[in-house]
Amino acid sequence: MPNALVVIKNLSNTYRSRAYGVFGRERSQPVLDHITLEIGHGEIFGLVGESGCGKTSLGNSVLGLIAYEGDITIDGLRQNQKGRLSRSKKLARKVQAVFQDPGAALNPAKPIGWLMEEPLRIHRLGTKLERIQKVDAMLHRVGLDPGYKTRRMHELSGGQKQRVCIGCALMLEPKLIVADEAVSSLDVSVGAQILNLFQDVHQRLGLGMLFISHNLPVVYYICHRIGVMYQGQILELGTAQEVYSHPAHPYTQALLEAASGPDFSRALTQGPPPQGWYQGQGCRFVERCPWKRPDCRKTSPPLSNIAPPGKAPHQVRCALFLPRPEA
Ligand SMILES: Nc1ncnc2c1ncn2[C@@H]1O[C@H](COP(=O)(O)OP(=O)(O)OP(=O)(O)O)[C@@H](O)[C@H]1O
Ligand SMILES: [Mg+2]
Repeated sequence: MPNALVVIKNLSNTYRSRAYGVFGRERSQPVLDHITLEIGHGEIFGLVGESGCGKTSLGNSVLGLIAYEGDITIDGLRQNQKGRLSRSKKLARKVQAVFQDPGAALNPAKPIGWLMEEPLRIHRLGTKLERIQKVDAMLHRVGLDPGYKTRRMHELSGGQKQRVCIGCALMLEPKLIVADEAVSSLDVSVGAQILNLFQDVHQRLGLGMLFISHNLPVVYYICHRIGVMYQGQILELGTAQEVYSHPAHPYTQALLEAASGPDFSRALTQGPPPQGWYQGQGCRFVERCPWKRPDCRKTSPPLSNIAPPGKAPHQVRCALFLPRPEA
């Protein structure tokens, strides 16, 4: 992708857990496995996958909140791999986050106006009057009355809290928003309003977005492209339309079935839930895959393009789409 907004190359991440007890040993748990992907300017990229597959770890790496191996470049600026605290202010202004729990994301003791003004204060932007005018305009943009400036977070509904968080994220006019499960804690109708708000600000401001969710239909609704993640790897990558209407990987198919109700997904409800990473050499999904073949346990397939020539790339990491080795 020429001039991509975010370029992620070979991103890997391992958490180290502390030793427990006298005889305990420090353990390391890999969570991201050589992830390479790009997000274009003004593109909404959706990342889906079941709980624990590493979506938040990827988002936090892009936000520079955790250390990682590999390279992340955002709008031409290469992020320091040590992550936290070493991030330049210039880069911090380009990337902002909206998290799942809006109530916990912002200081409950401060009024909304103070919270929304804070990013401008930190970056020393504008006079006091200009900052207040910007807060009023932003409250209006996210669908709240400027009178809400004097309220505290606990005086708002869940949807209103998330609107404030989105407003705070937009105050510095970032190039990229990382939205991690931003609608998951909201009920269906409020979640739909927030999704529409995301779409609205995206259209007006032309933001790039990394939209993280475990819900494939929600991601299909809002995103241009989708990456499906499983145990730290991207298993399928393509346009939202293609991945949603022609899911190729058995895991993506299972996720879509599961969206219709837990009884519908044979692969996800009958197979054993993953405990850490699959340790074998083969495909990570092999234990739960309804279509597995003997060779799936032997080698891990690469991410290969299955789209016909001239069509947008649709990449899948599955042996079913590779030419079978000669017997
Ligand atoms: N700070 C941490 N220290 C150690 N392990 C962690 C840490 N944060 C996450 N993990 C582990 O890393 C794995 C991936 O976690 P992550 O939060 O990225 O998953 P996720 O896909 O966002 O899940 P969910 O959909 O539930 O939010 C999990 O097994 C989790 O237990
Ligand atoms: Mg998460």
